[in-house]
Parts: sequence; structure tokens; C-alpha cells
Amino acid sequence: MTHTPANTQPYPFAKRVPAIPPIGAAQASSRSDTIPLSFGAPHSDTFPYDALNDAASEAILSQGRDALQYAGASGPSFLLDWIAARSARRAINVEPSQVLLTYGSQQAIDFAARTLLDPGDHAWVEAPTYFGAVSTFRTAEAVLTSFPIDADGLQTDEVEAALRAAVKTGKPIPKLLYVMPNFHNPGGVSLSLERRKKLAELAVEFNFFILEDDAYTELAFEEQALPSIYSFAPERVVYLSTFSKTIAPGIRLGWAIGSRDVISRMNTFFQGSKASVFSQEIVAQLLKKLPFEEHIAKLNGLYRANRDAMVSALKQYFGDDVRFEVPGGGFFVWLEFREDVDTSQFVQDAYERGVSFIHGKQFFVKPEGARFARLSFSYCDEERIHNGVKLLADAYYAYVDNK
Ligand SMILES: Cc1ncc(COP(=O)(O)O)c(C=O)c1O
Repeated sequence: MTHTPANTQPYPFAKRVPAIPPIGAAQASSRSDTIPLSFGAPHSDTFPYDALNDAASEAILSQGRDALQYAGASGPSFLLDWIAARSARRAINVEPSQVLLTYGSQQAIDFAARTLLDPGDHAWVEAPTYFGAVSTFRTAEAVLTSFPIDADGLQTDEVEAALRAAVKTGKPIPKLLYVMPNFHNPGGVSLSLERRKKLAELAVEFNFFILEDDAYTELAFEEQALPSIYSFAPERVVYLSTFSKTIAPGIRLGWAIGSRDVISRMNTFFQGSKASVFSQEIVAQLLKKLPFEEHIAKLNGLYRANRDAMVSALKQYFGDDVRFEVPGGGFFVWLEFREDVDTSQFVQDAYERGVSFIHGKQFFVKPEGARFARLSFSYCDEERIHNGVKLLADAYYAYVDNK
């Protein structure tokens, strides 16, 4: 037997994406007793487990072997009709043919980026923003610029000022602006109605696309989410959502909604097969039987109680030493500490004490945000949330004392 000699040369990996470790998940899973407040995953009790079991069986029994084939032209039309009808709640009026099902909304972000951006194009994002999208835009070799959020979401006056200044000075304007309108990840805030309209107007005036990522829209604990940005500029918005937060992320089904032109361009990135036919069939069978409103009310009851547990523990253990907006929905509380705090400095100690969180810098495209931290209230139950916040406070005050 011959042995290939060991190759000592470094391999020149593609430079597009820096080799950064995955955020949050690795920390959360490597110790079984750690309370993973870093983990932005749904609570497994919210999965409609029995109904999914029945739906999976029904999918095979009713569709036979077709349910297990490569996807045909478009999958079951029921699901596209259902999504189009449900979207009317966000003032989105579309034909089912304007809905593109994808492998989670993460894939829809990727297809949108590939459709809208050439290498070197400018993409504008929020500060903070969702790192999954940032990594996709980096892979698309976009130049990223960020704009701050406040309690009403993205500060559109800053965006407008930057656009007008860019035109005046001949600087590039964006091809795409990525925004989370409802229960922002990580900010927890929602974009005001006025700002939605303003963004739509700007997209039309300056001819860029808005990528409206509405992953958390159904998780509204108090008031229903507002009309989408899409509804104000359907020709210049790609709207995204997902079943990951309402049914189960393992199903891997999300969708994009847009004009026929943009949807047919995005569709070309499916090579061979579409999003899993089997998942589509299962979800279609599920939604034919599951009382969806009741299901959503139940999971929002759980998340609302979790949020309340987190908010009261934060008040109990941190008092005025941390600021945050109480989120009206979604999964996250975004903590703002004093100016001189760097939350990355106690992430390890917190972890050793038994709680994980994600430090602020990871949510920004520029080197900033050190005094912030993201906590997720979705995955753990109320007691663990309470205990996790207490451990976090222990780590924080030890850090402050040693500074
Ligand atoms: C804002 C946002 N968009 C998109 C996704 C991706 O969701 P999925 O690909 O599971 O649909 C997530 C997941 O955490 C998210 O927080």
C-alpha cells in the first residue's frame, strides 16, 4: 500500500468569507448544563408534534411516492395559496405565483442577494443586524454599510440623509437595503408605520431593493404586526418569511414574495430540485387540519410568559445597570450596558458559571457594539430563564468589580 505524503502547504481557501466560528450555537451545545440564553431557537414544546406526525403519514399516504420524488414544477399549490392568503394580514396582495418556497428563509436571503447584487455592489443593513444575512451578503461580495436602529426600528432619517448626500457627492447608493420590520433580531423592536412608508418611498426614488425579512411576524404578544413595507412598494421589495418560528425549523421551509420578475429570477437558483417536496406536503397536510390561529395563540402565550420572566429577572438582578426595550414579540431582548462595558469580556466567565449569551460586537458590520448583548427567551423555560439571568448578573458584576 502506498501512502500519500502529508501535505504541509496551507490551502488557499476562498477569501470571500472570513473563517469566523459559528455564533452562539457552538457555545450552547458543548455543555449540557449551560442555560443557553444565546440560543435563538424556538421552544420545542411549540412544535405541533402529534399533528406533524399525522401530517407526515398523511403526506405519504395521500401523495404516495410522489411525495418522495425530486420536486416537480412547483409542489402542492395548497401551500402557495395558503401563504398568499395569510400574507393579506400584512397588506400583501399577491398571486400564489409570486410566492417562492425555499429551504428556510436563509436560502431566500441568499437567492435575493444573488439576484440583486453583483460583487462590489453596496448593501445597507441595520446596526445591529442578523449575522446570517451579513454572512450571505459577504459571500455575495457586497460592500456593507450600516445604519442605527432605535425603539422604532431603523432610523430612516439617517438613511435618507445618506442617500441624498451620496447623490450629491457622487458616492455609490445601495442596490439593496436589508431590514427586519417586526421583532428585530437582535434588537427586539419593530419599525414604525411612518418609517415603513418612508423606506418604501426611498426605494422607489433611489431605485434600490428592500429585502424585508419578516421571520418573527406571527410572534406578536400584544398587537398585530403593522402592514409590510412590501405593501407600500411592491415593485421594489422582496418580502421574506418562514415556518421555522411557527411550525418547526427542522422542516426547513421559508418563502420569498416579490414581483413576478424578481421571483422568476430568484427561482433560477434552484438547480434541479425545488425546496423539499416532502416538507411541503407535510406542511400542506398539517395546515389543512391544524387550527392555525389557536396554535399561534398557544405559542405566543408561552413566549409571552418567557419574555415576562426574562424582563422581571433583568429588573431584579440588574436594576438600572442595564437598559432595554421590552419586546412586543419575537425571541430577543437586546441589552445595553454603560458606555465603558465590553460584554465580550465576561462571555467566558458567564459560560463557566452556566449561562451563555451573545456579545454585542457580533451583530455589527463595523467594529462597534461592545456594550450590547443579546439574550434569547425563546428556547428555555421560565425557571431556567430566571436562573440564567441571575448567573449573567453574577458574571457582569464580577467583571465590573475587577475592572
Ligand atoms: C431574522 C432572521 N431571518 C432569517 C432567519 C433564518 O430562518 P430560517 O432559515 O430557519 O427560515 C432567522 C433565524 O434565526 C432570523 O432570525
